[in-house]
Amino acid sequence: MSGYQGPMRVLSGIQPSGGMHLGNYLGAIRKFVDLQNEYDCHFCVVDMHAITVWQDPVKLRAQTFHIAASYLAAGVDPKGAAIFHQSAVRAHAELAWIFNCVARLGWLDRMTQFKDKVGKDKERASVGLYTYPVLQAADILVYKATHVPVGEDQKQHLELSRDIAAKFNHDFKAEDFFPLPEPLIKGPGARIMSLRDGTVKMSKSDPSQNACVFLSDDKDTIARKIKKAKTDAEPLPDKVEGLADRPEVANLVGIYAALSGKSDTEVLSSFGGQGFGAFKPALADLVVEKIAPIGDELRRLEADPGFLQQVLTDGAERAAATADPIVKQVKEIVGFVA
Ligand code: TYM
Repeated sequence: MSGYQGPMRVLSGIQPSGGMHLGNYLGAIRKFVDLQNEYDCHFCVVDMHAITVWQDPVKLRAQTFHIAASYLAAGVDPKGAAIFHQSAVRAHAELAWIFNCVARLGWLDRMTQFKDKVGKDKERASVGLYTYPVLQAADILVYKATHVPVGEDQKQHLELSRDIAAKFNHDFKAEDFFPLPEPLIKGPGARIMSLRDGTVKMSKSDPSQNACVFLSDDKDTIARKIKKAKTDAEPLPDKVEGLADRPEVANLVGIYAALSGKSDTEVLSSFGGQGFGAFKPALADLVVEKIAPIGDELRRLEADPGFLQQVLTDGAERAAATADPIVKQVKEIVGFVA
């Protein structure tokens, strides 16, 4: 049990490796908005994680602004939360190196995301991709963050962060120096699946543009993608048990539930027995209602890179003011000369 007594703090991050989609919004950003008034929040654009796979430098810069603008467009207030890019706060990289020496190879060998990403081509993967979860632990613990809002796919990485924190505290006899960060995963929208295949998660790297609703999609595009989403020939079931072997249907019902604040059961009590000719237009209207205004604000913000740069610079200064003294203490604990 952790007896950590420090302040409650939130950290989360999103990679600037593609457009922000509905999964990122429901799994992560929407939680950021809900948490910002309760906690001291740090929301990072993790550009150092993004380059673990090849990124075109020009696109990387634009995507970094895109993620920052998405945080703002969804409702994160930069006067409260620190919004910044990871590479601007060098404490992340410094702590990541120390954690590379705390984490064990066996732990990283078990990371399923790495295995999924590299498939059979491990030899050609970057070393950075392998140690990706160690940098993620540093992102969190460099602020001694106690809570981490993420989608379900990040569960294993969060467990590794806790293991690294516990091993550091133990090895250096620094009891409760680092908190054991709690993932905040639960809730509707923690795992949104592709609109083309209900068995794979909605992902920035999906080659099909129709697999994702992007925050930047206009109303017509959103409606078209929902109406084209893969389904089957049966009507919607009356009960949630009827979703068991129908991943695409379960996903659409889950999206409706997450955006409307209803449970799957409530959604099915309205739409059970009806065909997709009725459900898809209702879902399309709901997604348009909730997402299109964010897209409008996103476009407005992206047209003002000077403002976005200012938000990032200010956020990085505030983030460094928290992180630098923590890294200084870590260096003393490890035995580095000041
Ligand atoms: P990334 O950019 O892949 O994902 C960003 C966030 O979106 C969530 N997410 C989803 N949630 C629901 N359904 C989906 N289909 C879906 N796809 C993505 C992810 O769970 C995540 O919360 N490794 C992190 C980035 C990171 C990080 C951190 C997060 C780096 N350092 C420190 C938290 C704390 C990632 O997956 O990014």
